[in-house]
Amino acid sequence: MAEKIAIYPGSFDPLTNGHVDIIERGLKLFDKIIVAILYNPAKKSLFTVEERIALIEESFEGFPNVTVDSHSGLLVDYARDHNVNAVLRGMRAVSDFESEFQMAMMNRRLNREVQTVFLMTGLRWIFTSSSIIKEAASFGGDVTGMVPQNVNEKLKEKFAHVKRG
Ligand code: PNS
Repeated sequence: MAEKIAIYPGSFDPLTNGHVDIIERGLKLFDKIIVAILYNPAKKSLFTVEERIALIEESFEGFPNVTVDSHSGLLVDYARDHNVNAVLRGMRAVSDFESEFQMAMMNRRLNREVQTVFLMTGLRWIFTSSSIIKEAASFGGDVTGMVPQNVNEKLKEKFAHVKRG
């Protein structure tokens, strides 16, 4: 039988435990997940694409069914080039719904073969986002337990020079 593969696209700037949760849930449905770092023009990134790839690869070391890649164009083009029709996205609170719905509909319009599969994050991660974690970490807040250990260390490194107050 053909392998069930999904693309899990996002900015992953940086990977959070909410993302990890979605990947783990996704692995119960798909044989393989390609974590694809794509460009979101609405966001300014803290980590380079290379740093983000390394952090995700380290976090999923020992998971041969999770691979990491990046692409600077449209998600649907990446999906077509890799022969994958399933796109995995996590849904947190209702507030995610509108933008996720809009993006899924646009992707479907661009390529009718692509289907978006939404998974609900675990309750403990519904308020977790890369943005809020970066904000907390930038002010010296402790984000232990919200991100993988390697990401936590890298965040501390990034903000070590920032003096506030
Ligand atoms: O983690 P994010 O920022 O919510 O992920 C959004 C992302 C990167 C998946 C989205 O912006 C994206 O798909 N960017 C690539 C360009 C594209 O295909 N956009 C959607 C249709 S216009």
